[in-house]
Amino acid sequence: MTTRASKRARSDGDAGEAEVSAEVLEAGRVYAAFTQFAQSEHAAIAAMERKVSRIDADLLALLPAEALPARWAQLHVCATANADFVASVFSFAKEAGVLVEPSDGSEARSSGSSIPRDVEPAIDELRAVLHSVVREWSAEGAAERDAIFTPIVAALSAQLESSNGGESAARVLVPGSGLGRLPAELCRAGFDVEANELSLQMLLVGAFVANCMSVEAGAVATIHPFIHQAGNHRSSADQTRSVSFPDVTPLELAAAGSAAGTAAAAAVAAEAEEDDADEEEEEEEEGEEGVDPWFRTVSGDFVELYGVEAPQRDRDDLFDGIVTCWFIDTAPCVLTYINAFFNIMPVGGVWVNYGPLLFHWASPDADEDASDDRFARSLELPWSAVRSAIIKRGFSIEHEEWKEGVTYTANKRSMQRTVFDCVFFVAIKRK
Ligand SMILES: C[S@@+](CC[C@H](N)C(=O)[O-])C[C@H]1O[C@@H](n2cnc3c(N)ncnc32)[C@H](O)[C@@H]1O
Repeated sequence: MTTRASKRARSDGDAGEAEVSAEVLEAGRVYAAFTQFAQSEHAAIAAMERKVSRIDADLLALLPAEALPARWAQLHVCATANADFVASVFSFAKEAGVLVEPSDGSEARSSGSSIPRDVEPAIDELRAVLHSVVREWSAEGAAERDAIFTPIVAALSAQLESSNGGESAARVLVPGSGLGRLPAELCRAGFDVEANELSLQMLLVGAFVANCMSVEAGAVATIHPFIHQAGNHRSSADQTRSVSFPDVTPLELAAAGSAAGTAAAAAVAAEAEEDDADEEEEEEEEGEEGVDPWFRTVSGDFVELYGVEAPQRDRDDLFDGIVTCWFIDTAPCVLTYINAFFNIMPVGGVWVNYGPLLFHWASPDADEDASDDRFARSLELPWSAVRSAIIKRGFSIEHEEWKEGVTYTANKRSMQRTVFDCVFFVAIKRK
């Protein structure tokens, strides 16, 4: 077992964090995506209606009477529910000062009838986040979470000291933390967790769940995440079916874990609350009594914040453990991540990984894909090569296992589900 002091090295990363947030998170487009989400939801259904209206009426007569009008009406009801949830997140983010109306006219563009092309990817990402809500914070996602998060937490607990087992908790970094469920589960297991996430949509929805929702108080929401999946439904009801969430709030998870959990909501709040958090940190360092934040979320690109060239990040005492869950394949070059992980942990540091190698930046014609130069810098490696690079860098792989038939944000009622064989390993920094 490795035991480390639980103080966070926090303030040195803050300046970089603010810069990265402004530069990388495309706040203007995300702002426009939030404001135009409702319009886009209904426009997508109207487009389906238009397509069907071109089909011969005699053919459509083969369908039950009123089936199509009823379907469109139901889809619009579902779209409104999705848009209402997104609007709540938007209000929360604006009130918190995290999402600020851009001065470049992005908001003004929303008055037009069509969605600007550069805003569409940010809207698509919001829709994908609704699928992540199902995975991370609904009862329906429990099976998927149990298959993935449970072995991760068990592996880390077998290697590192948690506050449940000793006086000080090991410090664990979770890059690519999504909506925060895995960091929350690691906190419940007694670790001192720092979450890192790049996507502003993910960060805002995660913060909303943490700060504004409560199962006990009935502050739950219902969405219809599958309305845009055109095919592979067994019935229309499957396309429009609802998912309610959260199944539990981060605060309740915290209560089930360490006593320090009572400040969960404050800790997950976004950058606007950084100043307060810094004050808490100063108080901690001065030895005053207080409640430890539950887990801290740092927004921005992992490499820019923790990579070997990141300011103040070339220290090997930042974290005792790193958990990568469906994350290492988000790198244009996974070797960059391996180097970074090595540099921010001491000898004996533990890296637990679970995921496939669905390299995000792979592109059949990278030179032609001018949308992002990371496509042109992407390196796709097989597990055997990633494995040998991990060992060559100075880790030993203590445990390695294939987890077969794993899903990610799967629609359990769909006639089509993608399954992955994931590599699950525990590596220890040796030199
Ligand atoms: C496939 S998701 C996995 C989310 C979560 N770990 C889970 O298992 O549900 C990958 C996450 O990594 C985030 N991500 C991608 N590139 C990143 C980067 N360079 N720095 C930080 N986060 C990143 C994405 O926004 C996304 O939330």
